[in-house]
Amino acid sequence: MLKPEIEDGQTRLADPQFRADVLSGLARRPRAIPARWFYDHRGSQLFEQITELPEYYPTRTETALLQSLCGDLREAVGEGRAVVEFGSGSSTKTPILLECLNPGAYVPIDISGDFLRESVRPLAQRFPELLILPFEADFTRPLTLPRTIEDMPKLGFFPGSTIGNLIPLAAIDLLRAMRASLKEGAMLLIGMDRIKGEEVLVPAYDDAQGVTAAFNLNLLERINRELDGTIPVDAFRHKAVWNDDRARIEMHLEATADAAFEVEGRTFDIAAGETIHTENSHKYGPRDARILLRAGGWTPVREWTDADGRFAVILAEAQAERPAP
Ligand code: TRP
Repeated sequence: MLKPEIEDGQTRLADPQFRADVLSGLARRPRAIPARWFYDHRGSQLFEQITELPEYYPTRTETALLQSLCGDLREAVGEGRAVVEFGSGSSTKTPILLECLNPGAYVPIDISGDFLRESVRPLAQRFPELLILPFEADFTRPLTLPRTIEDMPKLGFFPGSTIGNLIPLAAIDLLRAMRASLKEGAMLLIGMDRIKGEEVLVPAYDDAQGVTAAFNLNLLERINRELDGTIPVDAFRHKAVWNDDRARIEMHLEATADAAFEVEGRTFDIAAGETIHTENSHKYGPRDARILLRAGGWTPVREWTDADGRFAVILAEAQAERPAP
């Protein structure tokens, strides 16, 4: 049954898709809940904190890279493109790019309209001359972009190694959808985290202060709050493991004791040691990154990495398809 939720003084219904994903995810084996449900208000706050952790190198590394590649990038992409950002525009990375490129327009795409409007306000203040066209949409599907930018060449922007949060099959679907939305001749600037030693990777997803643990566990609290859950959150712990076969960090919630609980009136049993899989973060070596882009219809044209080769920012182009060979 749907239950009204009080949040920010407003009455809201629990999202029916959240309910469906949680109920089916807890029933299936292995148990898994899609990562998009991490990002309620508290989850988004905790994620901001993750990006500032000493162990979490990606944000810091990518931000510094974007600052240093400006000259090269301006030369490679030219002027007057419309920058289309997939995901939120709240990051500190967006102004670096806008400052550098002085684009013809900026189109941030996000599935959350509220969040979108909030994040656009400071950008509009900082770039008063820039045409900003926030676009509320699910970018995993091909989109029809605003008419105003129809005739401008496009530059897609997809930072944060968010592509790594998709399994390769879905990552390629997304790259192809982006190509279909931005059209031939478009360019894409994408951030991808590289494969490296477990001693660096695991702490980035299991920090000493326990912020990532709190972020992961908040999903259970959200289920309790929004879906009438009775999950004993104390009986779960955050677990981050490197899956070498799939070249990804996996995040799980592991039961530390046998537990029984209810969600939306349904009963679930979980045994000590069993996990709920909540997130993947795939890492790509230099050639892996390039073949992934090519498979998605994007030809890599330039790439930049930090001195330690931890993180890559790649510029790719949607070139005309040519028949084999
Ligand atoms: N795209 C980020 C990454 O894979 C997202 C992320 C960072 C994340 N830390 C996390 C997702 C912890 C879930 C849990 O690095």
